[in-house]
Amino acid sequence: MYKISELAEKVGLSRTALLYYEKLQLITGLRLENGYRVYSERDLQRIHLIQQLQLGGLTLKECKVCLESKIDKALVKQRLKELDEEIKQKQQSKILLAAIAGEGALKSWHESLDKLAPDAHLDWLKTQGFSDKEALQLKWLSKDMNDHDIYMQDFMKVFQTLERWGPGSEDDTKHALSLIPTAPSSILEIGCGKGLATNVLAKCSQAQITAIDNEQLALDQLAKRFEEKGLAARLEVCCTNMAALPYSNESYDLIWSEGSAYIIGIEKALMLWKPILKKQGYLMMSDLVWKTSSPSEQAIEFWRHEYPDIQTVQTRIKQIEKTGYQVIANFSQSKSAWLNYYNPLRERLNELEPEMVNSTAFKNMKNEVSICTEFADEFGYHMFILAKV
Ligand SMILES: C[S@@+](CC[C@H](N)C(=O)[O-])C[C@H]1O[C@@H](n2cnc3c(N)ncnc32)[C@H](O)[C@@H]1O
Repeated sequence: MYKISELAEKVGLSRTALLYYEKLQLITGLRLENGYRVYSERDLQRIHLIQQLQLGGLTLKECKVCLESKIDKALVKQRLKELDEEIKQKQQSKILLAAIAGEGALKSWHESLDKLAPDAHLDWLKTQGFSDKEALQLKWLSKDMNDHDIYMQDFMKVFQTLERWGPGSEDDTKHALSLIPTAPSSILEIGCGKGLATNVLAKCSQAQITAIDNEQLALDQLAKRFEEKGLAARLEVCCTNMAALPYSNESYDLIWSEGSAYIIGIEKALMLWKPILKKQGYLMMSDLVWKTSSPSEQAIEFWRHEYPDIQTVQTRIKQIEKTGYQVIANFSQSKSAWLNYYNPLRERLNELEPEMVNSTAFKNMKNEVSICTEFADEFGYHMFILAKV
């Protein structure tokens, strides 16, 4: 026989817990003449059995039912299912912790967290020591905290010699500008890259242009080009984050964003930038859209990872209108805009293949070029000309 304190020590439970077990009649203590409670070997074994059942996920009350009557198979099966689910989740946690510790890839975790909680994802990356710029690059490009630096180094190695950093053409830029109802005297270009569109804006308007990007290298080349052309007085460049622009309300007639608004999310970009526009201001942005209502599996799978927010033109227009703009014109970018970007990128990748064949960034870019060539008629860039309402 065991005293309550002895039993408690043997099974690793408190006195109070044992008294509760007794109240539920899971064990039955005997009161001795001297007032002490004692428990039998049978009580000890019943507690061991209960503890095993609890480990399997049964509550104390369910354990009692199992001990006192024939096992409720439906209940046990349900618990089995829950246990499987728990094991699956624990496996996920193990994979994640291993990846954070540098022992595995984090790509799918970053992707799914970004879908579930995009702002929390970016905030968390910043608490891990990534800057605003790095956090966005991680979201769109490297998708892995552990390999981020090497990924971006390889990515920039490919892009530093390329003129275009996104699909576009002089004619498309000209055409979009011609659709702006009033000639702008001030333009803010966001995500200008090396400034191929900036050139056209300067050539086809009399506006004073502010061009922003978060790559100083690109801005330096743009500023140099304007200086060489004697246009420096019409341009101001600024290395800043498009998500936190340092401009006062109602300061620009026109905002221009070719292939850049998606970086912070189209709707968020439109809402953030709207106050900077003057009352009768306009905004032109280009975005990747579906050109077919039945894209192929490969295209869906590719963009599910690379641009999960890709929409049809109709859906995008509805979203734009909800953010307080009127869509006054829109058109598909030309085929040459697409080729102006993908042809030089393909050539550059071919040139670098011998030295970069094992690089993840290189492989991803090669894959993008191949998907965007093979399925080029299923998706493409579209230009939207918007009036601030
Ligand atoms: C797809 S490229 C388009 C570049 C240019 N408009 C063109 O068509 O060649 C996107 C541009 O946005 C810039 N960018 C990315 N994230 C940014 C951020 N958070 N703030 C400002 N610029 C950013 C990149 O450096 C890049 O130049």
